[in-house]
Amino acid sequence: MKIIGTGSALPEKIVTNDMLAGFLETSDSWITTRTGIKTRRLLSKETLGELAITAATAALESSGVAPENIDYLICSNVANSYVTPSMSSIILGLLGCNCPCTDLNGACAGFIYALDIADAFIKTGRAKNILIVAAEEPSRFCNWHERETSVLFADGAGAVVVTEGEGFKDFRVTADTHTDVLYYKRAMEATPYDRVESKTTPLVMQGREVFKLAVRACIKDCDIILEKNGMTGEDIDMYLLHQANLRIIDSIREHLEQPKEKFPTNLQKYGNTSSASIPILMDELSRGGVLKDGMNLLLSAFGGGFVTGAAILKWSSIDYPEIEEPVHEPAV
Ligand code: COA
Repeated sequence: MKIIGTGSALPEKIVTNDMLAGFLETSDSWITTRTGIKTRRLLSKETLGELAITAATAALESSGVAPENIDYLICSNVANSYVTPSMSSIILGLLGCNCPCTDLNGACAGFIYALDIADAFIKTGRAKNILIVAAEEPSRFCNWHERETSVLFADGAGAVVVTEGEGFKDFRVTADTHTDVLYYKRAMEATPYDRVESKTTPLVMQGREVFKLAVRACIKDCDIILEKNGMTGEDIDMYLLHQANLRIIDSIREHLEQPKEKFPTNLQKYGNTSSASIPILMDELSRGGVLKDGMNLLLSAFGGGFVTGAAILKWSSIDYPEIEEPVHEPAV
């Protein structure tokens, strides 16, 4: 399986650390030193569905695959205002696709989980062309009266089209039950038989625990997938890691003893966009000409659950149709 098209979309509204410090007990220096995040994009005027469609349309256009030739649509999403229908159902018809579709919740590792499933569908001949859209609005389930999570998370969408061909070498996805370190509970309707009050609990995170779990799990994933494929850290040209936190990325990089240039980041500008973070970064790097034909890439992400995903692939460059303006600023 290989990636033949990419796209991404971010909300217009830019929110700086200082803007948050205006109503939360926090500061630009706390957020910057602990996370690396300087600004984030938050949904205000747009809907998540609109972002998803923009990202998916760009991915389809760059792939050259017509919407009606997509055989399966997977949307990676943790939560949005609809429990049903799925986000994939909402965007399917608007894109002009006519195929089965489903949502997948692999938390921040959802994009890699979706790629892994797409790979299995393509290998078994169940599908030829698959559209994966990661669309996330975590800002809508953070507690905006508290500083713990609201300074970290942000909104965005990234998409890829995958098809048959040489590209992905291997996947490693893992899951381990740690449901108390990162969770968001949604209220359910009362019934005559279950009168236990059901309340929404905005995102709760034990930051230090998540930090340790994330570093440990990603290091393990990278080590195992590299060794299994007879590779070392040296053989990877670029690491596209989940854009949660610069310190987590640095810890993984130090373990792998690889130079900073191999770890592109955009979390400084966009914050943690959950499962959309890797496809947004990939789209920026690909459109910016940073990802070159034949480069070995390692993707790695972690998220609530606790789940992780890693993948190794050889990149094939994509010819993007001419556009008047770049979709957004390039990654640093
Ligand atoms: N602004 C200012 N102070 C804050 C704050 C904020 N936004 N959030 C927490 N604090 C306070 C804490 O209350 C604590 O105060 P105390 O010492 O008086 O108790 C202090 O800052 C230090 O907290 P600590 O937990 O030691 O900070 P940390 O160095 O672990 O950094 C995180 C906190 C959240 C940045 C860090 O733990 C982290 O990155 N965790 C992983 C989060 C993540 O990636 N989640 C996404 C998973 S997909």
